[in-house]
Amino acid sequence: MTVEDVRIFDTTLRDGEQAAGVNLNLTEKLQVAHQLARLRVDIIEAGFPAASPGDFQSVQTIAREVPGLTVAGLARTRKGDIEAAFEALKDAGRPRIHTFIATSPIHREFKLKMSREEVLEQVRTGVEHARSLVEDVEFSAEDASRSEPDFLAEVFRTAVEHGATTLNIPDTVGYATPEEFGAFVEALIREVAAPKNVAWSVHCHNDLGMAVANSLAAVRMGVRQVECTVNGLGERAGNASMEEIVMALQTRTDRYGARSRVDTTKLYGTSKLVSRLTGVRVPPNKAIVGDNAFAHEAGIHQHGMLCNRTTYEIMRPEDVGAPGTALVLGKHSGRHAFRDRLEALGYHLDEDQIDKAFGLFKDLCDRKKTVSDGDIEALVADEVVSA
Ligand code: KIV
Ligand code: ZN
Repeated sequence: MTVEDVRIFDTTLRDGEQAAGVNLNLTEKLQVAHQLARLRVDIIEAGFPAASPGDFQSVQTIAREVPGLTVAGLARTRKGDIEAAFEALKDAGRPRIHTFIATSPIHREFKLKMSREEVLEQVRTGVEHARSLVEDVEFSAEDASRSEPDFLAEVFRTAVEHGATTLNIPDTVGYATPEEFGAFVEALIREVAAPKNVAWSVHCHNDLGMAVANSLAAVRMGVRQVECTVNGLGERAGNASMEEIVMALQTRTDRYGARSRVDTTKLYGTSKLVSRLTGVRVPPNKAIVGDNAFAHEAGIHQHGMLCNRTTYEIMRPEDVGAPGTALVLGKHSGRHAFRDRLEALGYHLDEDQIDKAFGLFKDLCDRKKTVSDGDIEALVADEVVSA
């Protein structure tokens, strides 16, 4: 099987920072950008230079100081935005201007107050201007998934004719469902028939919890750039989570025939860094990077894990840089895991002693939410070994 590359376009510093209550200063943004470079993402969207002087400065500093990857800056199709993006990006080794305009009837009527023809004219002038400044131009049709397919195809064809090198299909409000989005993307790619050197991309939001599934459905249809954020940070319910996309491609390459270049062993550390700097906690049950992602409590599961970890783990914690598998002792745990823990704590008890200790341990679990190693040691020392 040939395995193709999927480019990871990380927008933690742009769309991720749009999450309510998140505001990173320049030093923090640089820290994240350097970490993303170590993680080996392909493109980072460093900000929206026309949005504020602070955003301009962060994009410019990242463009100058973070080597080895493409640095993108967002711009509406307006001349002023595109020029601000170029000014901020021009010292980057590989600058990309990412320009966008909304295409759906809802956005055209209520937000832009523009006709179809006026939107097309913005695409022509905006993309052409961006392309006169840099080689690498991404065009996004905001709210693509709620746009009329024939108009959207015309918009993307226009963007290609005027120099776009990447065409991005956003599910801006997380409205799509995987089968629907996959079919939508497949039809669009067929209809636009862009030249081979033009890359297709998706950018999915998580309002219905389907951002990752929608992104992967698009990869199945040949999309080779996915836009995402660390920990799924972003507007409202967030964006597609980078660690989930990367590990889904890695773990199920058989299904997708494609994977990213990301150094997966740095995913956990990156998640922790972003959580610490943004103040946004990662839920314990979050896939890949949550504290419980490799924790097993049920006795049957713990027994399986002690026999062979692949019974209940499809990824190894070390593959994502997580501290390790945890067999958490609680009221669902079984005798096997309990005996294992006793041995790890240095107790080699006979069967009767283990039975007694296990009974006491289960009683304690009914009284206490979590039972620590210290609790087990106290219980064994006071009531089993000394008895
Ligand atoms: O969600 C969206 O449509 C965006 C675009 C600017 C790409 O963030
Ligand atoms: Zn977005």
